[in-house]
Amino acid sequence: IKLSKAKFTISAPDIRKLPIDAGIEVAFAGRSNAGKSSALNTLTNQKSLARTSKTPGRTQLINVFEVEPEKRLIDLPGYGFAKVPLEMKKKWQKALGEYLQMRDSLKGLVVLMDIRHPLKDLDMDLIHWAVDSGLPVLALLTKCDKLKKGQQASQVLSVKKALKELGGDIKVQAFSSLKKTGLESANQVICQWFDQ
Ligand code: GTP
Ligand code: MG
Repeated sequence: IKLSKAKFTISAPDIRKLPIDAGIEVAFAGRSNAGKSSALNTLTNQKSLARTSKTPGRTQLINVFEVEPEKRLIDLPGYGFAKVPLEMKKKWQKALGEYLQMRDSLKGLVVLMDIRHPLKDLDMDLIHWAVDSGLPVLALLTKCDKLKKGQQASQVLSVKKALKELGGDIKVQAFSSLKKTGLESANQVICQWFDQ
């Protein structure tokens, strides 16, 4: 499978508007502004497939990108951003929760965290949930270009150590959309999920 073949399919305000729940989906989740949409663009090698923004909370819908028939990449709304009207937050956090709980075709979860402050409470909740659900996780430590090589390595190590205790199928990778760091490995993991 080639992720570069991804095409925008639909923006859904809730799970009822999504394509039929069949095949394989790989979803990108993480705090607002963690770099989910940027990572999707980098992995698909398309500059503006998913909309990115300096303003956290940009992705408020469930965005679907079809790579092949029955194989989809999903850009989920970010969580943990306080400065959003409560009603709006409720709505899209509901969409996120419903997606994660109800979607049978979800077969792999990419959890994106800023390498400078990973494993916040909501990240841990999400990863715990994935492990309990038997879902494989790829933890991408994003914006790694912001740290020196040594600091990157020590962050990766401490995240690996913390997540090892959870058991489950969890991989950890430093990632930069800017520098394309970790692109090959991330691509490999995701393609493996699609090809299973
Ligand atoms: P929401 O949709 O709001 O939840 O955000 P998101 O997680 O999709 O983040 P997005 O990809 O829109 O990126 C947020 C900001 O981080 C933007 O200003 C990006 O340019 C920046 N950013 C993303 N990836 C990188 C990276 O690898 N390096 C650096 N330096 N900045 C990045
Ligand atoms: Mg986004």
